[in-house]
Amino acid sequence: MKFSLTLSALAASTAVTALYIPEPAVRQRLYTVELAPGETQQVTEDQKWELLAQGKHFIDITDYQHIDSRRVAVAKVAFPADITQQGAVKPLLTKLSADNMNKNLQKYTSFNNRYYKSATGKEASEWLLSQVHGIISGAGGNSTRVAASVDPFPHSWLQSSIIATIPGKSSKTIIVGAHLDSINLRNPTFGRAPGADDNGSGSMTILETFKALLSDPTVASGQAPNTIEFQWYAGEEAGLLGSQAIFAQYKKDGRDVKAMLNQDMTGFVKGTLEAGQKEVLGVVTDNVDKNLTAFIKKVIAAYCAIPAIDTRCGYACSDHASANRNGYPSAFVIESAMEYSSELIHGTTDTIDTVNFEHMVEHAKMALGFVYELGFAQGL
Ligand SMILES: *[C@@H]1O[C@H](CO)[C@@H](O)[C@H](O)[C@H]1NC(C)=O
Ligand SMILES: *[C@@H]1O[C@H](CO)[C@@H](O)[C@H](O)[C@H]1NC(C)=O
Ligand SMILES: *[C@@H]1O[C@H](CO)[C@@H](O)[C@H](O)[C@H]1NC(C)=O
Repeated sequence: MKFSLTLSALAASTAVTALYIPEPAVRQRLYTVELAPGETQQVTEDQKWELLAQGKHFIDITDYQHIDSRRVAVAKVAFPADITQQGAVKPLLTKLSADNMNKNLQKYTSFNNRYYKSATGKEASEWLLSQVHGIISGAGGNSTRVAASVDPFPHSWLQSSIIATIPGKSSKTIIVGAHLDSINLRNPTFGRAPGADDNGSGSMTILETFKALLSDPTVASGQAPNTIEFQWYAGEEAGLLGSQAIFAQYKKDGRDVKAMLNQDMTGFVKGTLEAGQKEVLGVVTDNVDKNLTAFIKKVIAAYCAIPAIDTRCGYACSDHASANRNGYPSAFVIESAMEYSSELIHGTTDTIDTVNFEHMVEHAKMALGFVYELGFAQGL
């Protein structure tokens, strides 16, 4: 999530920033960022972090200026009117483990940071890839031939995105995604950025969802009607870089993506509770596909123990914007109403003790219901 630092944090940051001295050529390179459809600016990398610190969301469209955001035609998809897969989904929900997510997030937050151009950002991506490999090789027992596979999606920078595919009987594709990087805005390359909530939580939520889904023999053996993908994006914080590279490639390849659900920041509940409100799932209603979003509310009502609340997050606030910009219907569900989401992100204090794992289980239930219902939907 792109958010603002507090003013005091900004003031405190000045001395630390001086430690981060990139090569002059890197420092002066200009990027084109889009802050609203059609509204662009040329900025240096340092200026990107200033925008983030001011709470300004942007897409780095340097490599994708041929797309006019104001003229994107998003595919019209007729999502199912009803939830129909309860019989199969409910037993899978019991396999989602808060303890497992806790254990994985502990490891994930132990990398100094997961910055997209740092050595530890690369290592974190490789660790996550090995976890997905482990889940695939452990799935299915002896009886099911597991059709799933996973590959890194390399970029021009150090950190790779990751794509796990569970082929179905058709190439119609349902995607759930989360970004895998984290950032310390005051010192991106070397600063500590545990990124527990932002967005370690989303990454681990969908990893756990993937594991539970693969325990279903029909899905694991490639017999679902549609193809299901789990994607972890590099370089979200620098302007949705990894997700743009993937969705631009998919568009070029004519891939038939029917729906994308973004999971980013799934574990912070304290803000909501301290405001005297009840725990909820924050369904983003701006810059998303309205019909897909309406369908996701049905998924939440059918499978989650807590209700949905409508919230808004602004243009380019996370990776679903990359799907949308390439013509694919997308949606975003976050941990709470935006005003109560974590303010600790993008620095040293986004730590694992601020994360509520039972809340992450509710996100995972939604993600599982989403991929299963749409994975088995006929006539999308
Ligand atoms: C976390 O993910 C959300 C949604 O994908 C995104 O808006 C936000 O910028 C991410 N936060 C960070 C620190 O990357
Ligand atoms: C959303 O659903 C309505 C009613 O089914 C339909 O008329 C409309 O075209 C759909 N919009 C999109 C963008 O698919
Ligand atoms: C897998 O195969 C081994 C050896 O044939 C057998 O002992 C074990 O019970 C099998 N496990 C499952 C889950 O079928």
